[in-house]
Amino acid sequence: MAAPSLKKIAYHTLQQGKTIAGLAHKELSTKLMEVFAPGAAPENFPINQDLIKEVRRSMENLENIDWREAEAGVYPKSQLFEAPWLEWAKKYPLVWLDMPQTWQRRRKNKTREIPKIVNEEDYPEYYLQNFHHQTDGYLSDHSAEIYDLQVEILFNGTADSMRRRVLSPLKRGLKKYLSEGSKKIKVLDVATGTGRTLQQIQSALPQIELYGLDLSGSYLKQASKYLSSRSGDLVQLTKGNAEKMPYASASFQALTCVFLFHELPRDARQNVLNECFRLLEPGGILVLADSIQIEDSPKFTPIMENFHKIFHEPYYRDYIVDNINLRLEKSGFSSITSESHFMTKVWKANKPV
Ligand SMILES: C[S@@+](CC[C@H](N)C(=O)[O-])C[C@H]1O[C@@H](n2cnc3c(N)ncnc32)[C@H](O)[C@@H]1O
Repeated sequence: MAAPSLKKIAYHTLQQGKTIAGLAHKELSTKLMEVFAPGAAPENFPINQDLIKEVRRSMENLENIDWREAEAGVYPKSQLFEAPWLEWAKKYPLVWLDMPQTWQRRRKNKTREIPKIVNEEDYPEYYLQNFHHQTDGYLSDHSAEIYDLQVEILFNGTADSMRRRVLSPLKRGLKKYLSEGSKKIKVLDVATGTGRTLQQIQSALPQIELYGLDLSGSYLKQASKYLSSRSGDLVQLTKGNAEKMPYASASFQALTCVFLFHELPRDARQNVLNECFRLLEPGGILVLADSIQIEDSPKFTPIMENFHKIFHEPYYRDYIVDNINLRLEKSGFSSITSESHFMTKVWKANKPV
């Protein structure tokens, strides 16, 4: 067997470092929470040694596939090291400063503390909440600034690897358009947040025209800042509700959507899928990524249950048992496939010709 390259060793070391940093941060913050906000920690499902081993194995598999796909040229290897490190270092103290408010919100079970200046009529009712007990929900610049780092810590440095799992099915789905080479290919990332998936798509497919939509103006501002600091064409960002998107029918060849569905009630999930179907041209594809579900990852049930208990995720419990395949079919999609990678499940579905 050939010796691993220096780059592979560097990537492995980086991932290990992120895992250790994520675990250390959580350990310390939980200890502080117990002192300063006793009662904020909910009763958790116990995680036994076998499950910890299983989690480690699953993380290793994720790292391996992430490396293999970079080696195979699905995306440049530089993607594996992509992060605004300096920005994150500057923002890390903000994550700590924000924590006492989060603990209090958790302790008092306050889940609808949204900034007063927000015009509530502009948003669906389910959106006006402090998902993950996040200060201001998704509705302030402060929330948008620290979001990426919070997610990175939450998933012990695997968030971007999980997002990257949309790239291979996306590229496969776009193959026929890429080989035709005649018209401009348009791809929309639905609920793009701070634009990390857009950046990944741009680096894997620099020739396509990219669009991003989200309900949060603050998150889009952050996305714009992040994307414009990277090389690549201008990405068109639009504020809007994924249930009723402001684009013409059949105007995209592909759509992606990452980590949205677990934050939607059932009817909104179906509405978003119906909209995705409408926006795709016949032959186009949808690649959807979100949390794993009970059905295909039963051994991770305690982790899923804890996620919903620790963080304010009001629709997660329903999401993990929802039949997304059936919803996709109901919207009109066909050739539906799915696969799981660590904590993420990825669906690919076609709009029939
Ligand atoms: C968990 S974040 C995921 C963001 C991003 N895709 C990522 O990978 O980090 C959920 C995102 O969905 C957005 N969102 C929630 N409901 C939405 C809706 N109905 N329409 C558009 N965006 C929505 C939020 O503003 C937030 O940016």
